[in-house]
Amino acid sequence: MSDPAPASRPVPRPGVLAIEAYVPGRSGAPGLPKVHKLSSNETPLGPSPLAMEALHAATASLEVYPDGGATHLRAAIAQRYGLDPARIVCGAGSDELLTLLALAYLGPGDEGVFCEHGFLVYRIAILTAGGTPVVAPETDLTADVDALLAAVTPRTKIVYLANPNNPTGTYLPFEEVRRLHAGLPGHVLLVLDGAYAEYVRADDYSAGLELVLDSQNVVMTRTFSKIHGLAAQRIGWMVGPEGVVDAVNRIRGPFNVSGGGIAAGAAAIRDEAHVAAAVAHNDEWLPRLTREVEALGLTVTPSVANFVLVHFPDEAGRTAAEADAHLGARGVIVRRVTAYGLPHALRVTVGGAEANRAFVAALGEFVRGQGRG
Ligand SMILES: Cc1ncc(COP(=O)(O)O)c(C=O)c1O
Repeated sequence: MSDPAPASRPVPRPGVLAIEAYVPGRSGAPGLPKVHKLSSNETPLGPSPLAMEALHAATASLEVYPDGGATHLRAAIAQRYGLDPARIVCGAGSDELLTLLALAYLGPGDEGVFCEHGFLVYRIAILTAGGTPVVAPETDLTADVDALLAAVTPRTKIVYLANPNNPTGTYLPFEEVRRLHAGLPGHVLLVLDGAYAEYVRADDYSAGLELVLDSQNVVMTRTFSKIHGLAAQRIGWMVGPEGVVDAVNRIRGPFNVSGGGIAAGAAAIRDEAHVAAAVAHNDEWLPRLTREVEALGLTVTPSVANFVLVHFPDEAGRTAAEADAHLGARGVIVRRVTAYGLPHALRVTVGGAEANRAFVAALGEFVRGQGRG
């Protein structure tokens, strides 16, 4: 039998065109002079001044390739967390690492498990690797360990858990994470995504470092995009067992973190006072925003991160889509989360005082039916 006629143009391999590309939060409102961007969980404090200084200094040698091993950054992270730098890999954001982990451990026919309202990049990473996404239901918008374990089959190779989760802001106590790990076969990689770990104040929470260090199948990913205020630099890191680190190092780009990212990240992680200020700001505003939105008669999912999920009635004139339009017209940019299976909710980042007040004021107007028609 002869081969079928070749296509007249390059065709992506099977599955690629079935991937729905990630749509980031909006960043502007054209025509409005003042915009409060509360759509991507960025910090209102900006980066550490020390990080900015380090970044500027790095521009002195832009013609030189960065250190492919990100040695300086790994050393700073290792020092901050008491880790062996050899167990750390840095990436162009934690997104890159989440994808590299899927590429290293999943192939066609393999399954990757994540939660019902889990971070969208997990699905994209699993499909990118040619694997099959498997979704575990949540209970009260929170990861459910029994459901996650029930979703595991002999084909499962990887389980992603954001703790706390985006976009719900809910978390699993560390004992529950341990129970999840204990229920997984040893060959299944558990990825604990701690993008918002620094913000969590609950006593029963841990980002899971101790589990990473005590086992052969747990990785933790972290980011410089959120509390460190370096989202534009694209820097993330992971810590894991030797074998996983080795696998990821083999497939990552040789210079996957920029020179500026290495310098800025290292300075940022040393500036513990800046991180503490961001935590203090969140400690003040997270409960305050929650209370003020609840006082308007809306439901807020209890959050431990730097954002809140606000729920709206499915009733004409009161919907999340209409609230989003009303807020946007007043320069308050929040995140619709329909793609996360939450069409009746909006995710709102804890911003600076002025932005938070502008959000509550505009939401109050919306709820009271002002400014419509
Ligand atoms: C849960 C979670 N993980 C990972 C990331 C990715 O962060 P980055 O690629 O900027 O490090 C985000 C960003 O929104 C997130 O919400």
